[in-house]
Amino acid sequence: VPDRAAAGALVADEIASLIQADPEVVLGLATGSTPLPVYQALPARLGGMDVSRVRGFALDEYVGIDPTHPQSYRNVILREVVEPLGLDPRRIRTPDGAVDGAEHAGADYERAIADAGGVELQILGIGTDGHIGFNEPGSSFASLTRVKTLTEQTRRDNARFFDSIDQVPMHCITQGLGTILRARHLVLLAFGQRKAEAVAGAVEGPLTASLPGSAIQLHPRVSVVVDEAAASRLR
Ligand code: F6R
Repeated sequence: VPDRAAAGALVADEIASLIQADPEVVLGLATGSTPLPVYQALPARLGGMDVSRVRGFALDEYVGIDPTHPQSYRNVILREVVEPLGLDPRRIRTPDGAVDGAEHAGADYERAIADAGGVELQILGIGTDGHIGFNEPGSSFASLTRVKTLTEQTRRDNARFFDSIDQVPMHCITQGLGTILRARHLVLLAFGQRKAEAVAGAVEGPLTASLPGSAIQLHPRVSVVVDEAAASRLR
């Protein structure tokens, strides 16, 4: 696509059709900068459609972050997706990042996704180190929702959302690669030169846990939506 706005329009069209076909559709939501053009394009695409029954699951959450912190993914999803689109916050779940519940939060989240009938369309961004969700290099392709340690690279990349890198949590709870692969359609977006290497590895590189995004090659239905810069390392 020529730019982020075009990517947003393309993916928002697809999501609007899904909601039209099934008002209770289950969407897989991502945070970070990448999906923002999709969320921004959606209200115009939805027109007056009833979205009150749409369900959603976020990919990940920081562990141990104060739930009121503006950068907790619960709050990011509420601010950037739920409120502008008029979704029902009770139908949009994020993994529980409380330290106390960390032992069973992963299994609880897996059960909730399964009970909802699985995710129809999963929006994905990709980290400069090739992570999807917060599945950092070394993550098993069979992994399910669990607590992970963030790499130094990811904490540096995400420091822009915090006052300093010291405030970026060390741990996260993330859907696993196995969880992500169960969604019925994966839509991976990436923009800019910084993502070019990760995109090339995910799309054309060997299947390897060193580049978790390469797991998308195992999925029968994947759309990769990139601008010229992010596509620049593809052969
Ligand atoms: C966010 C997520 C991450 C991001 C990735 C890219 O929920 O799971 O995988 O998609 O870190 O982040 P941005 O889009 O900010 O470049």
